[in-house]
Amino acid sequence: MGQSRLREPGGHAAALLDWYDRCARDLPWRVGPAERACGVRPDPYHVWLSEIMLQQTTVRSAWRYFEEFIDRWPTIGDLAAAADDDVMAAWAGLGYYARARNLLKTARIVAQSRGGRFPEKESELRKLPGVGTYTAAAMAAIAFDRPAAVVDGNVKRVLARLDGLRTLSTTDHDFRERARQLTPTARPGDYVQAVMDLGATVCRPRAPRCADCPWESCCLARLSGSPESYPGRVSRLPKPVHRCLAYVAVRADGAVLLEKRPESGLLGGMLGWPGSDWAAPDEPHAPPCDAEWETVDGEVRHVLTHLDLRLTVQVAQVAGDCRPCKGDFVERALFEPRHLPSVMQKVWRVAEKTLNK
Ligand code: ADE
Repeated sequence: MGQSRLREPGGHAAALLDWYDRCARDLPWRVGPAERACGVRPDPYHVWLSEIMLQQTTVRSAWRYFEEFIDRWPTIGDLAAAADDDVMAAWAGLGYYARARNLLKTARIVAQSRGGRFPEKESELRKLPGVGTYTAAAMAAIAFDRPAAVVDGNVKRVLARLDGLRTLSTTDHDFRERARQLTPTARPGDYVQAVMDLGATVCRPRAPRCADCPWESCCLARLSGSPESYPGRVSRLPKPVHRCLAYVAVRADGAVLLEKRPESGLLGGMLGWPGSDWAAPDEPHAPPCDAEWETVDGEVRHVLTHLDLRLTVQVAQVAGDCRPCKGDFVERALFEPRHLPSVMQKVWRVAEKTLNK
């Protein structure tokens, strides 16, 4: 694409949309450019579900979950009618479990008070639980083809490189303004998906593929000779390390002791192994039952949003009449480790090794 075309009003969007028509990723929640051109419209339920899953999660990880949710709950009405525990179990492994709780709240609001239809305006979308500025803009654009400034980390990198900006000196407001300027009135939904694809496949954090970029000839980072050094690193403070305990008790008949975590707090509402309080690791605590607890070699490490968790795992075989003070025994036939959050699955894997020795 020559620089002259890019200098025309709307030139950036036109060049990017040409590229998208040839190179769009095939994603399970997406109506691709060829289908869109034939008048196929995305299902707002699919767009919403995918955007919630994609918050803090890669496309690769969200893919399988999206397909499973749509298979199991094909409409928003089906999801709204689902049992909370089934949805939380289906979400297990995706992390950030507040998203799953808000997902259910929004599904129920939309199904029960709005006849199953999502609002189209960003300001109305933002009123739904779990739908913030980014998700509302992405939904307005992708589901309803409304011009909206969609800015996440990937989009910021693309815009920063295009304009030769450093993240540290550019505010979110600046990025949104720039995104607004570039967004076309025709095909705004395809445009935002094109920017996402450009960030994911061409304008990658490391080793950008500038030769394949429709904006190459006008990209200031590219012209600087070191595009990957833009937008610069934001140095993050190290996360505090919290050392905690997790208890895995297995009854003589194979049942395992699990506890539903409080609705508010880390992994809220999810099933897990009883243990010490992750937010207050120095608080005194007791094991969930009297037993001969054995400490498993090594520790389980898991990084959460605000902390670096190190779990010492204790295991015990307990008698059939064990009465725990925390949690409930789940029969072995009903125990599905994949319905536990990832960190709890890691604990189970190391515990199982010791128990089987
Ligand atoms: N990241 C966030 N939303 C996305 C989408 N709709 N497609 C691809 N990546 C995304």
